[in-house]
Amino acid sequence: MAKLLLRGFDIRKGHLDTPAQIALIKRLRPILQAAPLYRPVTPSGREMSVRMTSAGSLGWVTDRSGYRYQDTHPKGATWPVIPTEILGIWEDLTGADRQPDCCLINYYGEGARMGLHQDKDEADFSWPVLSISLGDDALFRIGNTTRGGKTESIWLNSGDVVIMGGPARLAYHGVDRIRFGSSRLLPKGGRINLTLRVAG
Ligand code: SIN
Ligand code: MN
Repeated sequence: MAKLLLRGFDIRKGHLDTPAQIALIKRLRPILQAAPLYRPVTPSGREMSVRMTSAGSLGWVTDRSGYRYQDTHPKGATWPVIPTEILGIWEDLTGADRQPDCCLINYYGEGARMGLHQDKDEADFSWPVLSISLGDDALFRIGNTTRGGKTESIWLNSGDVVIMGGPARLAYHGVDRIRFGSSRLLPKGGRINLTLRVAG
């Protein structure tokens, strides 16, 4: 389990072993049934290539009205609760004395990506953001706290966990591409990224 620090991003390679990854996928199944993945639209009207849903008291959404957290899925139901296994990872790695209230679930199918962005829709940036990679490899790019400038990239593999806290909390980051079919964790391929945040 290598620990890597890249521009303040605390990257725990292989933090979750294969059985733990399989257990998490099993926990996610009923969540994805209750709160199905949907394709979000940016405020400018562009369809995102990732599909998305959330667990927790708040979910992150985007549509023509903007980026925000809300307490219901776009189809109207409240979000499912965050599984205790996932909260345990947050407790173990962040040491924060508050639980996350949002677990954003992003699914990257073939060709999906996520442009460079900051996580800045939360009420208090002193809480870290924790991200869990499951399934196919992803080329993760890290930039600066302002737009532009040099960036650095690292491949994230299934079971890796990244903690963005302190100076890295507001750094630009994104996923250039995934290596579709590189992992056998998800039967149909692709990648799931779980992002835990204290949103409200
Ligand atoms: C995100 O920043 O929302 C997702 C990052 C990732 O997929 O690794
Ligand atoms: Mn992000």
